[in-house]
Amino acid sequence: MSLRETPEVLLRHVRKPLPHDSAVKQVQGAAPYIDDLPEPQGTLHLAVGGAPKARGTVTRLDLDRVRAAPGVVAVITAADIPGRNGVAAHMDDEPILADGTVAFHGQPLFAVAATTRDAARRAVLLARIEIAAEPPAVTVDDGLATGERVLPDYAFVGGDVAAVIAAAPRQTSGTLRIGGQEHFYLEGQIALAVPGEDGAMLVHSSTQHPSEVQHIVARALGVPDAFVTCEVRRMGGGFGGKETQANPWAAIAAVAARVTGRPCKLRLDRDADMAMTGKRHDFRVDWSVGFDADGRIAGLDMLLAARCGISADCSQGVVDRSMFHADNTYFLPAFRIDSRRVKTNTVSNTAFRGFGGPQGMLAAERVIDAVAWSLGRDPLDVRKANFYATGRDRTPYGQTVTDADIGLALVEELERTSDYRARRAAIAAFNAASPILKRGLALTPLKFGISFTLTSLNQAGALVHVYQDGSVHLNHGGTEMGQGLFQKVAQIAAEEFGIGLDRVRITPTTTDKVPNTSPTAASSGTDLNGMAVQAAARVIKGRMAAFAAETWSVPADQVMFQDDHVLIGNQRVPFGELARLAHAARVSLSSTGFYKTPTLHWDRAKATGRPFFYYAWGAAVSEVVVDVTTGETKVLRVDILHDVGRSLNPAIDIGQIEGGFVQGMGWLTTEELVFDAEGRLLTHAPSTYKIPVAGDVPADFRVALFDGENREETIYRSKAVGEPPFMLAISVFCAIADAVEAASPGGGLRLDAPATPEAIVRAVGPFDPVAALAAALPAALPRPA
Ligand code: MTE
Ligand code: MOS
Repeated sequence: MSLRETPEVLLRHVRKPLPHDSAVKQVQGAAPYIDDLPEPQGTLHLAVGGAPKARGTVTRLDLDRVRAAPGVVAVITAADIPGRNGVAAHMDDEPILADGTVAFHGQPLFAVAATTRDAARRAVLLARIEIAAEPPAVTVDDGLATGERVLPDYAFVGGDVAAVIAAAPRQTSGTLRIGGQEHFYLEGQIALAVPGEDGAMLVHSSTQHPSEVQHIVARALGVPDAFVTCEVRRMGGGFGGKETQANPWAAIAAVAARVTGRPCKLRLDRDADMAMTGKRHDFRVDWSVGFDADGRIAGLDMLLAARCGISADCSQGVVDRSMFHADNTYFLPAFRIDSRRVKTNTVSNTAFRGFGGPQGMLAAERVIDAVAWSLGRDPLDVRKANFYATGRDRTPYGQTVTDADIGLALVEELERTSDYRARRAAIAAFNAASPILKRGLALTPLKFGISFTLTSLNQAGALVHVYQDGSVHLNHGGTEMGQGLFQKVAQIAAEEFGIGLDRVRITPTTTDKVPNTSPTAASSGTDLNGMAVQAAARVIKGRMAAFAAETWSVPADQVMFQDDHVLIGNQRVPFGELARLAHAARVSLSSTGFYKTPTLHWDRAKATGRPFFYYAWGAAVSEVVVDVTTGETKVLRVDILHDVGRSLNPAIDIGQIEGGFVQGMGWLTTEELVFDAEGRLLTHAPSTYKIPVAGDVPADFRVALFDGENREETIYRSKAVGEPPFMLAISVFCAIADAVEAASPGGGLRLDAPATPEAIVRAVGPFDPVAALAAALPAALPRPA
């Protein structure tokens, strides 16, 4: 069957604003997560002991008191791992349990299996560990000073950028520091390993990447992949933090299960989770730009240095994506986008919503703001002057932007609907009369490339069964972490078979149904798995249609699946009835499905190709008020216009936009990771690490979907939505910088991320509130002496 598109008017299930499939259960607390599963008889509970120093040689690891503690059944160290002691799929640069040397504070050294979780945690504290410590490299600057990298340096270069900048009418430059971010998924890392016969192992893991957990566990156990199954029904949030970071806990649980012969469950408590798992990379960005009197950029030279931690983990893809988005929506005639993947003695940083894109894009927006400030122009005019356009459409990585018209139309629509110009004037008037409270406004656009930049990951598989009663069992390689993937894919299956959603059974992701899967990441879960499910459904439909055509003697193209029935010529047969008859006639009602994204090619060595199938566009306008004496901020109003193509489910898409935006706002305003000089994470609990709460959601929050279809042939012409809206929050940071600049010209350029009260006060610089108040008094009033 061809991938002929169903006319919009005939669509019954996609496009509908249906709630998340687990919404009701989640609200009731009835949706089971791994820690809610009934524990198999004899389950042991694990706790992990971490390194007490950030760097050095282990001179003593005395676990006798741990072994003797009440309830303890086994103690696991590196020596107990029967196979490979490694957490990474493709590199050998990080152990599951440290062996002889430690490289970051809290690095897992040993694990305790005990009859209760409490006993395991108490026992861990009895270890006697001594480390011959060496000074750690903690910050990105420390790491730059040592010169150590987790991966080689890499750059996109176009033209003689230094000469172009020097020859441009104007120049400016700066340094921007961008903080990292803790994922703070509500369900922490967890794994339950259940030993089976002949050395088999079933691992329930809260992972975005069941296939990688399967491989890491198999290698740790020293068994073939086929002996390990990894299953996950849902995660309580992943946000990229469970793309690789679920691996060690699954491996430790599996090794403990092997050693003890009993099921073993490992659930990290929040403090351990924060100290022992990777986060968003923090960056130092040094840039210089040459431009003309209209603010048009002639050349941009940017160096992105990322703190990667002790190992590569996802740093290749993450920092590449920062580079891919350092242009954001702007054409760069000449450029050098350079990068350093800096090795430090801190936990290995990892994927986090946007996968490096947010950091690159924030740097791009700082450059635009700086150009605008230096010219005294509205940053929105500079943004529009630099927008990709026909003839100015080649990205620094060689892909041509063919649809910048979507982005610009979206920006102009938002400029209108948000009343940007009138509010800009009102804010200028407000600020002129208000010395302490300053308002700021910013409209920032985004263009986010959709596809894994590692081309081989852009594939997906599905397994679909139709039972004899016409109900459908749905399985695919994607994982559900709250983003609504399962519901969207179920809508697609229901649409294909023309049956009600109540007939489609959503089932857990498991490596023994759909193998060799990619992580659910890069926002492409629905794009890939939706297509794979559609392909599987069409195979089964094709067989059912052929059977029906033959039985009722009608041409096969006169068989249609609709409203729980199959229209066969002038017959209308219930879908379940046709399934029963087809089965009786020995027609297979089960199929796999497969999809790979077309058109992609990317030559990293030559830095050219088409790494992205398409772009998602969006823009946000944020208005803030800042108290320049205390650094307190409040987001007053946010207007968002975002491009999801033709939405598969507008309710879920708007939820992703709102959630992504608020999570991005947290990253850029309140969430601050603080390490001490010894490399210890000081902010390892919600008491010191501040994520946004309901009260931080802007009181006036207007979210709209841009009207348009995906120009590429994606599933029902939709676009990916998981990550791009995160970067809409850059408008909040730019609005704060705008307010700081209003209070203290030049201060905007000094503002680093996150824009905490301290960062804002630092950026504002010395400020005399009495003098400022006096200056703002109407001239007729007496001045203080
Ligand atoms: N939404 C919720 N509720 N929870 C999550 O963990 N992860 C985000 C995004 N939205 C996440 C989420 C990230 S990092 C990605 S890559 C995508 O969802 C992954 O899912 P998708 O590809 O199906 O959109
Ligand atoms: Mo998302 S950072 O690609 O898991």
